[in-house]
Amino acid sequence: MTLDKRLGQRFLPYGANYLAWSDMAELKEVIDHQVLFRYQTETESMASRLERQVSGRLGAAHALAVHNCTEALRLALISTRPSIGDPVYIPAVTFVAVAGAVLSCGLIPVLVDADDSLSLDRTLLPSDARRVVVAHMEGAVAALPEGVPYLIEDCAQSLGARFADGRSVGTAGYAGTFSFHHNKVLTSGEGGLVVTDDDEAWSTMRRYHDHGSARVPGHYPTWNQDAHYGENFVTSEQVAAVQCQQFRHLDELLAGLERMYTVAMTELPNRPDLEVRPRTKGDVKVSLRLCWESRELRDAAVAALTAEGIANWTLGKYLLPEHPVLTGRRSLYADGFPWNHAPEGPLALSRDGFARTRDLLDRTLCVPLSPELPEPEQVLAAKAVRRVLEAV
Ligand SMILES: Cc1ncc(COP(=O)(O)O)c(C=O)c1O
Repeated sequence: MTLDKRLGQRFLPYGANYLAWSDMAELKEVIDHQVLFRYQTETESMASRLERQVSGRLGAAHALAVHNCTEALRLALISTRPSIGDPVYIPAVTFVAVAGAVLSCGLIPVLVDADDSLSLDRTLLPSDARRVVVAHMEGAVAALPEGVPYLIEDCAQSLGARFADGRSVGTAGYAGTFSFHHNKVLTSGEGGLVVTDDDEAWSTMRRYHDHGSARVPGHYPTWNQDAHYGENFVTSEQVAAVQCQQFRHLDELLAGLERMYTVAMTELPNRPDLEVRPRTKGDVKVSLRLCWESRELRDAAVAALTAEGIANWTLGKYLLPEHPVLTGRRSLYADGFPWNHAPEGPLALSRDGFARTRDLLDRTLCVPLSPELPEPEQVLAAKAVRRVLEAV
């Protein structure tokens, strides 16, 4: 029998989602109120409540809820008022949404190789870099470059993580972006947020996300003299309600991950061919990140864990230098926009053509932790992982 069946629990990839009718007070409130559009009400909407709670918790002056983190990234980028073809330095190891957000704003992604923690290596950045996206992947707090005017922290995978000085990730630079996609720390199926301390950036983002207008809640948009074109990224009340409900559980979730991480670290086998990649105190401990001596061993571990029903994943999918959109400069525009504004030659910063990073990714394996399990079951689960890893 697989571990899942023995425990009667799913081995959740990333966070638990706490969905239960008995816990859906905010959703009930929205339905009782009979308003699903956030700007239909002059009292505080559920979306505004979410933004107030998130900005308060993270210590940001402003938060804006949108449909997903990709929109949040687009808002952050476009609010910097760039010119077509401006470079944006992004991690070579991240989800393709970051490159997509850059390209769809008419900007050019420049891939920056990873450091030992698999985060963007800030030492590779040119001193005049104006726009940089750093991604805190898998709950891991990345080191940030200094002196970058538009530093965007992509926290899609790291809601709740903190820097060593206690600040929340997403609040150290120009803007921070978050995802509530189903495979994230908290989820509403899809969902996103952008936070910033910059009043002007927030007001620009708020206008752009609502057709370019500075709408007064409860009223039709007004097209002021400073209006510009925009899109519609306005979230819905029922989604915000689920996000508020999820957000209530953030501390409990983080504590559950910490607890299982501590348990798992004591249970891991002591093998000379297996290294556990270190995590900082402020990381959200969404997974154990294991690095094997060879790709063959890593693949054998994947097969063995999978056969036991233990969720796991590898990180090769995040290697953007091998993504067809980047290698082929793909675009839907007839003239190849915005690639037709890119300089000739490689758009990459790496000391070795990404060889070391590729090798590291080939040998890395992640095993998610299960915050919702009571401690005795976390111990059981960690022991099961240990048995499988020992036998590889
Ligand atoms: C690092 C990173 N950035 C951005 C995104 C995009 O988030 P969303 O799916 O909410 O648009 C993701 C989603 O997986 C991600 O992992």
